[in-house]
Amino acid sequence: MVLATLVLVGFLAALVPLSNSLIEQWARRDLELRSELVFNSIRDRVEREIAGQTQQLVPFFERLTADERIMALGLCDGGGRITVATSRMPSGLDCRIPAAIEEAPFQARFIRTRVAGERLLIGVFPLAVAGQPASLIILHELGFVADRIGEARWYLVIVGLALLLLVGAVASLIVGLLQRRYMSAVLASIQDLKAGRASRPRGVMDPGVQEESREIRGLLRDFREKIRQEDGTPIEWSPATLQDLLEKELPDAEVFVVSNREPYIHNRDGDRIVVQRPASGLVSALEPVMRACGGIWVAHGSGSADRDTVDASDHVAVPPAKPAYRLRRVWITEEEQEGYYYGLSNEGLWPLCHLAYVRPIFRDGDWQQYVAINQRFADAVAREATRPDPIILVQDYHFALLPRMIRELLPKATILTFWHIPWPNAEAFGICPWKEEIIAGLLGSTVLGFHTQAYCNNFFETVDRFMESRIDREHRSVVFGGEETMVRPYPISIEWPPAALLSQQPVATCRQVVRERYGLGPDMKIGVGIERFDYTKGILDRLQAIDELLIRRPEWKGRFTFIQIVAPTRSKLTSYTALQKHALRITAEVNARHGSEGYQPIHLVIRHHEPEEVYELFRAADLCVVSSLHDGMNLVAKEFVAARDDELGTLVLSRFAGASSELSEALIINPYDVQGMAEAIGRALVMGEPEQRERMRLMRSHVRERNVYRWAGQILLDASRLRKRRRVQEFQIGE
Ligand code: G6P
Repeated sequence: MVLATLVLVGFLAALVPLSNSLIEQWARRDLELRSELVFNSIRDRVEREIAGQTQQLVPFFERLTADERIMALGLCDGGGRITVATSRMPSGLDCRIPAAIEEAPFQARFIRTRVAGERLLIGVFPLAVAGQPASLIILHELGFVADRIGEARWYLVIVGLALLLLVGAVASLIVGLLQRRYMSAVLASIQDLKAGRASRPRGVMDPGVQEESREIRGLLRDFREKIRQEDGTPIEWSPATLQDLLEKELPDAEVFVVSNREPYIHNRDGDRIVVQRPASGLVSALEPVMRACGGIWVAHGSGSADRDTVDASDHVAVPPAKPAYRLRRVWITEEEQEGYYYGLSNEGLWPLCHLAYVRPIFRDGDWQQYVAINQRFADAVAREATRPDPIILVQDYHFALLPRMIRELLPKATILTFWHIPWPNAEAFGICPWKEEIIAGLLGSTVLGFHTQAYCNNFFETVDRFMESRIDREHRSVVFGGEETMVRPYPISIEWPPAALLSQQPVATCRQVVRERYGLGPDMKIGVGIERFDYTKGILDRLQAIDELLIRRPEWKGRFTFIQIVAPTRSKLTSYTALQKHALRITAEVNARHGSEGYQPIHLVIRHHEPEEVYELFRAADLCVVSSLHDGMNLVAKEFVAARDDELGTLVLSRFAGASSELSEALIINPYDVQGMAEAIGRALVMGEPEQRERMRLMRSHVRERNVYRWAGQILLDASRLRKRRRVQEFQIGE
């Protein structure tokens, strides 16, 4: 509309000078024609009378000036003198015939001139009188032309305004029609949302509107989701709000968690039995949820004293100090472990899903063990269930087949599967020989969760490529074999406040303790890295970045040390032992290159650390580096932030960890760019406290609000909604 107005105004503005000159031309031509007409009609009489009493011509001429366009008439002699003139003939008019007329004596000529401020057009008509050169002059005022131009301008303005009104009216009509179409689509979408309908039947709206409606429904759904997340549900998610939710939304629900790794491992240490809490993001996230909800956690009993600590039905109450739920251990032989855990899970699916350039290995024997162990866990869950419709939280890539197996044993169960690692694109996943079985297994779930929307999209793409199914991207679900699975992002997190923080000393004390432990002076800056010794974590690249930093900024030698804690993991696999050897070698090289008496740039500590030790180290550090080459989420990043209640310390975080999409105030790095990482570490070392505090505050408030209770709460809320919907469907079928 604005554009149309501008175009129109521009067009009219260009028209004004053109119309002025046209009007002037027309008016002049009109006067010239009139002059010629008058001359032709009186010429004979004038020529006749010119020889006699020319004064008799005066009244005759006067009558002619009655024409409003004729001002005066007169006769000129050969010397340019006016011999006869009507009353309004201006005095002193120079009546000499211009040279051009003299050259062509029988042609009429018109002269534009100004006399006494008046614009005049003078027609000069030569007369054929023998021996007496003479001419008739007819004078016209040109003042009326300016009036005409003014009038024309007004007409133009009026026409312009009329056109504008017309354009405006047409535009409003079009906009109105579009708005009505748009609003009907919005209203239809809202009706759908209110009714919880899957989609409107085809043919109700035209295809264009259907397309808009789909988009609008998507936007409204996201909006509703946002409101639900930010306002509709409790902001302060805690164990109490989670318990509340379970009581209100899922009363009498029987809750199971199934994972490979157990939350408490009983190990024999000489005559003693010690309890270990494993280094596992999955366990750190799920354990507080189970403490809040109660229920049964089914997991592999992997500790050397696990069998000695369970009851006759393989249960043990945990946490040992303050039991809140039961751990049901499932036993797996060494040989089964080789195929199911080391083989298919960690040599096949782990590298397949983490694009970290370690070749996945697929062995048929491993697959057979994987299928058998999945079935064993499904049977264990079915035996434990006391109701036909339990809520079962299946965890991770060790159990891709479990959802379908449980569905067959407990058709009414609500199965919520969470995939803790990335899901690669369809092309990458396509190399797996059992891709169809794995996808079909996962599609036995009621809800399938990933950390990010990008992983959900990759999953949809994979299903689309390899399975006969119906993908409903609008409702973010897949219908396979008549059953629908919702596929949603649920970014996992940690408990808030973390239990391990409660027993911590003030930051200054932690710093002192850690400095003493590693023999560091009071001015030494401390960087930390803490994780399982896994090739996906980018540990080698990190060590190289420290080397690079000390080469480029030698002033940090003796003033900066990096403590790298690594928990041994999956050490039977060559890819892991090779990594350990490599890391040891690089550490030795860097320490030899930059170290000196009393100064060791890198402390590589290979042993399991309990959460309290980890938090102490986080509190003692100036910076923490998380340089994963690919990571589903990475909870170490969130734990570092949670540990810093002094709001200081800098997080250097890989952009390939899911956490980077949430903790954007960290110094985000590309771990494949060693120099870039070195620069970021250098920047973290000199970052002022106000900036550290600003960044840390934002990250802490994010992790506090989006804690693991919220993660579990959202999955359970979705589960409760689906359970209610299914119950309604059952009523309908029963009617
Ligand atoms: C990742 C996986 C978890 C696993 C953890 C530790 O976080 O997603 O499923 O438990 O690593 O690995 P581990 O093989 O020691 O259980």
